[in-house]
Amino acid sequence: MGESDNFPSISDADKPNAGRIYDYILGGNHNFEIDRMAAQKVLELAPFAPQLFRLIRWFLGEAAVRLSSQGYKYFIDFASGLPTMDHIHQVTPEGTKVIYSDIDPVVVAYAHDIIKDNPYVQYVHCNAGTPEELLESDMPEKLFGSDRNVAVGFNGIAYFLPDDRIAHFMKTLYGWTGDNARLFLCDGDAGQSISEDAKKLTDIYNKLNQPIYPRSKKRMLELIKPWKVDDPGMMLLEDWVDIETKVTEKMKDTWHAQGTYGVILKK
Ligand SMILES: C[S@@+](CC[C@H](N)C(=O)[O-])C[C@H]1O[C@@H](n2cnc3c(N)ncnc32)[C@H](O)[C@@H]1O
Repeated sequence: MGESDNFPSISDADKPNAGRIYDYILGGNHNFEIDRMAAQKVLELAPFAPQLFRLIRWFLGEAAVRLSSQGYKYFIDFASGLPTMDHIHQVTPEGTKVIYSDIDPVVVAYAHDIIKDNPYVQYVHCNAGTPEELLESDMPEKLFGSDRNVAVGFNGIAYFLPDDRIAHFMKTLYGWTGDNARLFLCDGDAGQSISEDAKKLTDIYNKLNQPIYPRSKKRMLELIKPWKVDDPGMMLLEDWVDIETKVTEKMKDTWHAQGTYGVILKK
């Protein structure tokens, strides 16, 4: 695990890749023409996708900066996508150590090329549904020593996993991390009426053979156990990020994350 030799070449640009499409929609430049063409199709069906993806990444950055200012120097991030566009190591102080991971071998290979030999950042292959793949590897000890009071990222992934995998993830991380660990995540709330826009995005993913598992906040509160909700609670993404400072007055009313909320968890 973690050796780029085991993964496809990043020069394999003849197929669109979800991680690079995500990077393009976020406004990044780590993508190929084939990805941009696929992204256009997503945008035709779900023109709100850039706002939703951007809000998710802003929340991720906000949570990482908050935890970093509280003294967290070690992060483990699941389903990271590409380490670009204000990802954890780009928004936290230099020297913050981050282990990123993703299930997609092409994303992992491309990420290795992006982070190069940064001594503070590693990128490994891991299915978030079986986090022990990463936790039982030698990577955490290599980067963090014996310290397990880490901050764990789980963003833009819960809706790709069935309930039993979420429960397994939460319990496994609870058991592995130290008493002072934190976990930050975001997910859609299917408890309220799902908007037509959110339904369109679900249909797109279903067509791409990436099933979506919608769940309510109430159900998520069951699945996160034994973790507890930390301050400031479960809030809409728009309320986590200082939206006034990020978008113009004219754009403000249209910036909404389809009921997606974020939360930081503690023990
Ligand atoms: C929506 S992006 C999220 C990127 C980033 N975490 C963020 O919040 O901006 C989703 C990523 O999850 C990855 N993914 C999908 N299923 C996964 C799984 N079971 N385990 C790990 N990664 C997965 C995809 O390859 C993709 O890179």
